[in-house]
Amino acid sequence: MAIKKAEFVMSNSQVSKCPKENLPEYAFIGRSNVGKSSLINMLTNQKSLAKTSGRPGKTQLINHFKIDNSWFLVDLPGYGYARVSKTTKRVFQQFITKYFEERTQLVSAFVLVDVRHEPQKIDVAFMQWLGEHNIPFAIIFTKADKLKPLAIERNVAAYQQVLLETWEEFPPYFVTSAENRVGKEELINYIETINEQVKDNK
Ligand code: GTP
Ligand code: MG
Repeated sequence: MAIKKAEFVMSNSQVSKCPKENLPEYAFIGRSNVGKSSLINMLTNQKSLAKTSGRPGKTQLINHFKIDNSWFLVDLPGYGYARVSKTTKRVFQQFITKYFEERTQLVSAFVLVDVRHEPQKIDVAFMQWLGEHNIPFAIIFTKADKLKPLAIERNVAAYQQVLLETWEEFPPYFVTSAENRVGKEELINYIETINEQVKDNK
């Protein structure tokens, strides 16, 4: 399946002001610069629906994009970005945590990690936090164009090993490249399958 229509709805820092519609929602979260906004553009076939930048800290608010009039993709600010002041960082973290705690429309989070790196503490800790809050998530490995297939396999396996120390199962995962448009179909099909399940349960 492909996305036919994607529109920007709103940006804000308050969960209470997010769209009221009861549509299934999927949020992209991860370290600054990992490629959250770029992946949203890749999935929706748009160059600059979500704002991207080579400098970390580009996305600063909760951004809602309505897809095919039936579900939302949400672009969030990155965590672990050191260059913003401590106060700004705290405010970010507060509203991101609040978003995950209070947004009842959220069906699944996608935690994006750069496929080139070893498992990072902050990502593993964030996944742990999601688990403790019963928030389902999948992992998206980004920037696959930067590594050869064997190296990708090795790094995914390293991730599995670390997570399986604390989790019974490895969550669903996707290997993607916004640059080469890798992983698009798999990701959209996964979301569409969940959308169908949500509909059936209503
Ligand atoms: P923040 O909004 O700052 O948290 O960052 P983000 O996670 O939204 O990252 P963004 O999409 O803005 O991309 C950061 C940088 O990584 C940009 O320079 C992108 O061009 C680059 N980038 C994103 N995805 C890919 C990819 O799949 N491959 C390559 N090679 N570069 C990518
Ligand atoms: Mg961004």
